[in-house]
Amino acid sequence: MTGSQDAARAEEDTTPTLRLQPPCERLSGCHKSGVCSRSYFWVVMVFFHVYILNVIALLFYVHYSSGQEDASRSRDAPGGGRPDAARPPSGAEFVRDVSLTRIDGIRVGHVQKVSLVAGKAHEMRTLSLKPLLFEIPGFLSDDECRVVMQLAQLKGLMESQLMVQDGQEELAKELNLSPEEIFNLLDINQDGQLQLHEILTHSRVRDGIWLTPENLREIYAGLNADKNNDGLLNLKEFRLLSSDAFQHFLLQRGVKRSQLVRNSRHTWLYQGEGAHQVLQDIKERVTRLTRLPPTIVDLSEPLQVVRYEEGGHYHAHRDSGPVYPETACTHTLLAANTSTPFETSCRYITVLFYLNSVDGGGETAFPVADNRTYDEMSLIQNDVDLLDTRRNCDKSNLRVRPTKGTAVFWYNYLSDGKGWVGEQDEYSLHGGCVVTRGTKWVANKWINVDPDYQRQARYQQLVSQLPQEESDEGPALNAETQQSSVHQEL
Ligand code: OGA
Ligand code: CA
Ligand code: FE2
Repeated sequence: MTGSQDAARAEEDTTPTLRLQPPCERLSGCHKSGVCSRSYFWVVMVFFHVYILNVIALLFYVHYSSGQEDASRSRDAPGGGRPDAARPPSGAEFVRDVSLTRIDGIRVGHVQKVSLVAGKAHEMRTLSLKPLLFEIPGFLSDDECRVVMQLAQLKGLMESQLMVQDGQEELAKELNLSPEEIFNLLDINQDGQLQLHEILTHSRVRDGIWLTPENLREIYAGLNADKNNDGLLNLKEFRLLSSDAFQHFLLQRGVKRSQLVRNSRHTWLYQGEGAHQVLQDIKERVTRLTRLPPTIVDLSEPLQVVRYEEGGHYHAHRDSGPVYPETACTHTLLAANTSTPFETSCRYITVLFYLNSVDGGGETAFPVADNRTYDEMSLIQNDVDLLDTRRNCDKSNLRVRPTKGTAVFWYNYLSDGKGWVGEQDEYSLHGGCVVTRGTKWVANKWINVDPDYQRQARYQQLVSQLPQEESDEGPALNAETQQSSVHQEL
């Protein structure tokens, strides 16, 4: 015990004795006012001290209890959530209390053991870091592959891309822009010339027709468009073309399936309650593989099964679009209170399953995987178009051979550094190389997450409040799945 504590103890000991002297007894028998006023003084002092001690104790109590509350709040809201953010979702904001696990690739070639089914360990190999891409052999058993292909056949597969629509010519007539305006919009690098890739990119997006540089030169020759034969179109040359000359030329010549962005057939298989056990098992295994909250996987798109015939392909693309401030996700539109022309599927992860081993071709190509830099312009250079999976798969940085039962998965978005979805990963560019022999069967499981945490949370809350049958419709709200309204039946 220290000296000051001793002194405090001594003080405590003396005060009660003084207080116990009954002042009124003394008052009745006292004649000297000095005695009375002294005892009165002591009584007042004692009460005063007790009062002060009580006030101090109260202040300490208030201070410590509010401090604890603050501490528990900041634990719930990493990244400094506002005090009102801890309140339940009747308010505007949800607490950011969920973060998404992102698997560490370590380095290319690194193999990690993963536990996906009881009593068995799978090996997961890192194929690239940009995008973060893994391969898991034997993810599906032969029986599971067979059941998925059979269920898809039973349901029926539809063309993945329709042939050039009749409405296309109408669309061209409606185009209310002058040739100068169109020229300016197409001239991305604004050098006053239309390079091959400036035209090719446009026709792929607008018409879904995949022209090669040769095709384009053929069209120029057919229309006598490139007068000085330098492979470029200047404004004068462009003006001489009528607005629908291109489309007209293509339609006359006829477009083959092999000249589309994608040549395959596909269908969707529901994986929720009541679905075939194999489909539910696959969903469960994907949840374990990705280590994401089960609700997020449950509310994602159904399983897409794709079949490529011999000669089939899918040119390089990204499975999901970029994130702008105005971007809305198809799956959370229900919870968005804005309308926007920027809508994308927000597929955070792609899990791709090979359902058969292909006799020839059909690799999945990642043209720019682990490239030191990414340069959109250098993807299409003169005669080499790295996006063309019918011709240039051999020039891709990475190719995965389809092997029955193998799964590959990758992240289409980077992390935001705070445990949620960030920017689109431009390196996630990939495509299906042309199948040179036999057929190719794959399935896609896309995990949809809204990069806007609040919107994802609001969506999940809304779906959880719906009656059971209706909440099963959650994934069906995707535009693509709306096309086939019967996907829940399988
Ligand atoms: C897809 C896809 C690749 C492949 O279906 O989106 O990219 O190898 N498929 O079939
Ligand atoms: Ca140009
Ligand atoms: Fe894809």
